[in-house]
Amino acid sequence: MTILVTGATGNIGRNVVQGLVEKGEGPRVRALTRNPQAARLPEGVDVVQGDLLRPDTLTPALQGVATMFLFPLAYRVPTPELLDDYASSAGAVAAAERAGVRRLVVMSAEGELLEAVQRSTMEWTIVNPGEFMLNKIDYWGHSIRTEGAARSAYPDSPGCPIHEADIADVITAVLLGDGHAKAVYELTGPELLTPAEQVRAIGQGIGRELRFQALNPEEGRAELVAQWGEMAADHYIEYQKEWATAPPTVLPTVEEITGHPARTLRAWAADHAASFR
Ligand SMILES: NC(=O)c1ccc[n+]([C@@H]2O[C@H](COP(=O)([O-])OP(=O)(O)OC[C@H]3O[C@@H](n4cnc5c(N)ncnc54)[C@H](OP(=O)(O)O)[C@@H]3O)[C@@H](O)[C@H]2O)c1
Repeated sequence: MTILVTGATGNIGRNVVQGLVEKGEGPRVRALTRNPQAARLPEGVDVVQGDLLRPDTLTPALQGVATMFLFPLAYRVPTPELLDDYASSAGAVAAAERAGVRRLVVMSAEGELLEAVQRSTMEWTIVNPGEFMLNKIDYWGHSIRTEGAARSAYPDSPGCPIHEADIADVITAVLLGDGHAKAVYELTGPELLTPAEQVRAIGQGIGRELRFQALNPEEGRAELVAQWGEMAADHYIEYQKEWATAPPTVLPTVEEITGHPARTLRAWAADHAASFR
């Protein structure tokens, strides 16, 4: 059996490829990338070129594929015709169905991608992770590296971020296991932590005492915009405002599907200590 992993060079997909390869005599793993020369994927993985935004380029990658992980492209791409075009992997769903793919696992499907998945006759499963722990590198990495400090304008807004390896473990289990057809799995990390508690957990993981500082909303937005730009900053601020009054719920899904508890923020920080030094 051949399993196609798209987004295979990214944070989630790279872990999915690794998880499948570790199955030893298991499925043949094919990985999609726009740039095979730069892919750096494990030995034995069949690396194939293709562009999810151009479904006609996916034919070689989809040949003989029974099961596929579809990475969600969901970002704005400037095109000459429309400067604010919203690109998605929706076209790849129809291409997969035409090519005979029978099982499709999709992460974070929304909008036209969600509609395409739900319309398809494949055995589909949607995996919806909440906030990634990886965001902490974008948001706090610089100030932790340079000042041993991390700041937030929403000190009363807790979150339950998730390790990318747990998202990948769930996706791998669903790719390989039965009984997940038409399921929509919401995933979170294992703990609900305030920003100050998150900073403490990161400090414990990297072996360094860190300071937490509360900011006012204007200062907080300016810091986020400097890291992420206005659109992503405002998107994150909306979540933080919401979580201050309606915190997200810690869900048992990772353990239910993988059989192991979700990894803690402290363990994640230890895995990524180099990004905070
Ligand atoms: N950050 C969060 O808290 C959070 C929470 C929930 C969901 N999400 C979702 O997670 C996704 C982003 O994850 P990430 O930042 O971790 O991704 P990432 O690691 O940057 O990976 C991006 C992957 O997409 C591939 N890719 C990009 N454009 C492509 C194209 N046109 N055709 C084929 N492959 C393409 C890249 O492959 P090549 O460059 O090798 O082609 C790469 O493997 C978004 O959809 C976001 O909505 C994020």
